[in-house]
Amino acid sequence: MNMTPTNFAAAEAVAQDAIVRFEAVSKRFPASRASGEVVALDGIDLDAARGSISAIIGRSGAGKSTLIRLVNGLEKPSTGKVIVDGTDIAPLGERALRSARREIGMIFQHFNLLSSRTVFDNAALPLEIAGVPRKEIEARVTPLLDLVGLADKRNRYPSELSGGQKQRVGIARALATRPKLLLSDEATSALDPETTLSVLALLRKINKELGLTIILITHEMEVVKSIADHVAVIEKGRIVESGTTFDVFTRPQHETTRALLAGIPGMTLPEFVQSRITQQPTPDSETVLRIVFTGTHATDPVLSRLSKDLGLEVNILGGAVDEIAGRPFGTLIVSFKGDDAKVAETRAFLTALGLTTEVLGHVA
Ligand SMILES: Nc1ncnc2c1ncn2[C@@H]1O[C@H](COP(=O)(O)OP(=O)(O)O)[C@@H](O)[C@H]1O
Ligand SMILES: [Mg+2]
Repeated sequence: MNMTPTNFAAAEAVAQDAIVRFEAVSKRFPASRASGEVVALDGIDLDAARGSISAIIGRSGAGKSTLIRLVNGLEKPSTGKVIVDGTDIAPLGERALRSARREIGMIFQHFNLLSSRTVFDNAALPLEIAGVPRKEIEARVTPLLDLVGLADKRNRYPSELSGGQKQRVGIARALATRPKLLLSDEATSALDPETTLSVLALLRKINKELGLTIILITHEMEVVKSIADHVAVIEKGRIVESGTTFDVFTRPQHETTRALLAGIPGMTLPEFVQSRITQQPTPDSETVLRIVFTGTHATDPVLSRLSKDLGLEVNILGGAVDEIAGRPFGTLIVSFKGDDAKVAETRAFLTALGLTTEVLGHVA
């Protein structure tokens, strides 16, 4: 069993089987008139567990789309293997690849609907291409339109739909061939926040009810936070961090992850602290500590115990309560005066209460 630290599922991978496995995958694009050789992916080892929702996050140009395009054979790896449900994708011929793709649905940022076709006919397209008889198409597409909440729009055209409705058509189309795997390339990036939430709820429902594995790539942390079980962070073609969404979001290890998470409440320092914080203490400075609550802890008793049991005078600089992958998560940023021994004692005290702490720096 491959237990590289870059596995999505980390320790659980032992018990779960991987529906997608990247083994030492690199992808180089040859030099062109516009640029020299591009190393889009560089030594990717990654598993996506069957039945899970896995997210790949990273900045623009990090290699996300290339990674996902390798899964359905739109790109071929320069080295390494991409194994989908036990089949190495790259060596497949046209015919075998076409049948493998029927097992893999894909949705896109700009929906890619045909404007001259109705909702029904857009959703039916992959079945028409596969030569499925009209009667069976009808029997398969009708319940799909129900599932995505578009039964009453079946004869409408894309131009008559909202963005969220268009993406629902995209989802119905992706599910038409009854795939095992759904790939999403920034599928909510063109939608407003409210519509994004409703599309994410639909994806979660499909994951649960149909047992469909979903791999989504996104630059939107809110998307990951609300639906992904596992997350991998990609930077310059390499996986720099991966694990359960909860672990990665509450204890980000890599600088890229921290930067990507900066917009999540409680992750960043308030501006008035940020501008004054230093890495080294000064004679009069206070230590700035981030305290992370990952259960149902209340903040009040913790603060009063810090003052009563440790005699600390604690200033609250910021905080937030949030939910990640369905679990409550709170952060509190505090400062207090004390030497190294006092800081160590405070952290040990909080650790014993089941809280995670991190020294962010010092403020005068
Ligand atoms: N067909 C291609 N030819 C040349 N370079 C490409 C091609 N596709 C992607 N790239 C390059 O590979 C890198 C990763 O691109 P991409 O996978 O699209 O990143 P992301 O989806 O994370 O924004 C970028 O530097 C991009 O310019
Ligand atoms: Mg992309």
